[in-house]
Amino acid sequence: MSLTGVKICVILGIITAIGLANGYKIDPPIPCLNTSDCRSLPALKSDAFCTEGICMCPRVESGIEICSSINASLHETKISGPLVFRVCKHQKDCNFTGGICNTTNWQCNCMKNYVPSSNNHHCVEKINFEDPCIDHNQCAILVTNSTCSNNRCICESGYHHTDNSCWKMAKYNEPCTKSQECSHIENSICTENMICGCAAETVLSTNGAKCLAVAKKIQDECTESIQCTTTFEFSACVDKMCQCEENFHYEYELTRCFPNREVGDECANNYECYQIEDYKSDPPIKSVMCNSNKCTCANNYTLIEHKCVNDGLKLFSSLSLVSLMVAMYCFS
Ligand SMILES: *[C@@H]1O[C@H](CO)[C@@H](O)[C@H](O)[C@H]1NC(C)=O
Ligand SMILES: *[C@@H]1O[C@H](CO)[C@@H](O)[C@H](O)[C@H]1NC(C)=O
Ligand SMILES: *[C@@H]1O[C@H](CO)[C@@H](O)[C@H](O)[C@H]1NC(C)=O
Ligand SMILES: *[C@@H]1O[C@H](CO)[C@@H](O)[C@H](O)[C@H]1NC(C)=O
Ligand SMILES: *[C@@H]1O[C@H](CO)[C@@H](O)[C@H](O)[C@H]1NC(C)=O
Ligand SMILES: *[C@@H]1O[C@H](CO)[C@@H](O)[C@H](O)[C@H]1NC(C)=O
Repeated sequence: MSLTGVKICVILGIITAIGLANGYKIDPPIPCLNTSDCRSLPALKSDAFCTEGICMCPRVESGIEICSSINASLHETKISGPLVFRVCKHQKDCNFTGGICNTTNWQCNCMKNYVPSSNNHHCVEKINFEDPCIDHNQCAILVTNSTCSNNRCICESGYHHTDNSCWKMAKYNEPCTKSQECSHIENSICTENMICGCAAETVLSTNGAKCLAVAKKIQDECTESIQCTTTFEFSACVDKMCQCEENFHYEYELTRCFPNREVGDECANNYECYQIEDYKSDPPIKSVMCNSNKCTCANNYTLIEHKCVNDGLKLFSSLSLVSLMVAMYCFS
């Protein structure tokens, strides 16, 4: 070979090397997680499939080969579709917000502190759940079942935010697995029967928003009558206190509210027969009794002007009247 021939060979070699270096033969495999990743690439045929993390292409002439990324190298100017995860060779191939060409797997990825946008067209900054958001993924990557709505991360509908997570909302009396699923109802729990309910000694408020403490004693504090009626039949929450309903009175021994039956009224038991004056002393006097289903004056009490009056008092009052008359007579 002549000197000229050698020179030509060297020049051709250099040209080939330049060609290689320029990427004509640099044909990195196309990474994938599953077959649909490969088939979604417009440049690959619909018979491409994913094996061991790279796309494989069956060819009529040569059998199954690693798919070429040359034609699949998706310069955004040429091919529309997702930008994140597309095959790249240079940084400029990933020229979108937060994009970098990852030279480990030869695909566009998001820079540190960025996550792919929901349409994979660019990357969006990582945020905290409280921060303003612009894309669903900013929230969803932080907290499952969350989304971005009006620039705020919120839980998807049917979910609620507790303990930094979005929990499925289980309705009252409906199945649950964790108390957090019930916690949209204040103070409720997931009971042993795995349904949302109020804990022992609490009761669901009328609007279903919370569990309230039930009254243990009459005159316990309350905000709703349900707290009183759970323990005391015929009671109500009046002036933030559990009391017997109107026309009912409380009997301490039986810890119950009984209807007020007056002398002459029908009755079922002694506790119903009631005279307001009896309750002015503590403990109350029982001047009215239920006798053959009728409220009548008890022993040593006499009916005067529709009230049962103590005979002793009556005697005392008549005695004093007598002495008064005697005194008036003597000193007049
Ligand atoms: C394939 O993987 C992608 C993520 O790379 C995922 O979105 C898609 O649902 C997967 N498809 C199947 C059929 O598993
Ligand atoms: C790329 O596409 C061109 C034109 O469609 C084709 O001639 C060439 O063989 C393809 N290259 C590879 C490696 O598939
Ligand atoms: C990146 O894209 C912008 C427009 O979107 C363009 O002005 C700029 O030149 C591009 N940079 C590179 C390195 O391609
Ligand atoms: C680049 O790809 C490798 C391999 O898939 C991965 O481990 C690495 O996290 C990627 N880097 C970035 C910045 O995405
Ligand atoms: C909530 O997240 C789970 C787990 O990721 C998922 O299976 C479910 O479909 C999600 N629900 C909604 C309404 O997005
Ligand atoms: C009625 O009065 C008498 C005499 O004062 C007394 O012995 C008796 O225990 C009283 N009965 C009742 C039921 O209070």
